Amino acid sequence: MNRWTNLLLLVGAPLFSAHCTGSSVPSINVPSCSEGAGSVQYNKSVPNGENKFPLTQVDLCYTDSDIKITFTAFEEVNFYYNESHTTNDPLYEYEVMEAFIYHGTNDPKSYLEFEVSPNNVTWQAFIYNPSKLRSDGAPFDNGQLASPIVDGLVTSTALDRDGGVWVSNA
Ligand SMILES: *[C@@H]1O[C@H](CO)[C@@H](O)[C@H](O)[C@H]1NC(C)=O
Ligand SMILES: *[C@@H]1O[C@H](CO)[C@@H](O)[C@H](O)[C@H]1NC(C)=O
Ligand SMILES: *[C@@H]1O[C@H](CO)[C@@H](O)[C@H](O)[C@H]1NC(C)=O
Repeated sequence: MNRWTNLLLLVGAPLFSAHCTGSSVPSINVPSCSEGAGSVQYNKSVPNGENKFPLTQVDLCYTDSDIKITFTAFEEVNFYYNESHTTNDPLYEYEVMEAFIYHGTNDPKSYLEFEVSPNNVTWQAFIYNPSKLRSDGAPFDNGQLASPIVDGLVTSTALDRDGGVWVSNA
């Protein structure tokens, strides 16, 4: 099961805001890391969805150079990943936590997708998704970032298998 977060970043106000897209457009205020973090928890796959989803928490703050994201997966039972996978392998065929990041307030056609797996491997690409729905036959492309660690897109991951918790800091 993949746990995802959509972040539309609004810049200009004293705070960043992170928005989850959806009909009701939930949002949180995100402070500078020097002042703490904004935090959101969810346990449904979509904001008004029916189905229970494992409890997931995302903590967010910003610095002059980075967006800091802490993904926490609670109620985790599988820790399901492919030990052979390395950077930009198809991690999404297993479990990942992922963020879709865009600078602006409109519904984007391109965005940065960032994924981390329970074994601390990452997948990162700029997505081109002009139909926004991935309609049949519509273009859908990506430009992967091949050297994320050199670029500064680093993670740290800790698994608590007995407690059912997986934390990745990005
Ligand atoms: C999670 O889901 C259950 C059932 O829908 C609900 O009762 C609970 O308050 C939710 N929140 C947390 C933090 O578990
Ligand atoms: C695990 O990943 C490797 C490398 O991508 C692939 O060759 C292999 O088929 C995968 N294993 C399974 C069980 O899917
Ligand atoms: C996870 O990957 C990062 C690079 O993205 C590395 O610096 C770190 O040591 C790795 N290991 C753990 C346990 O987080």
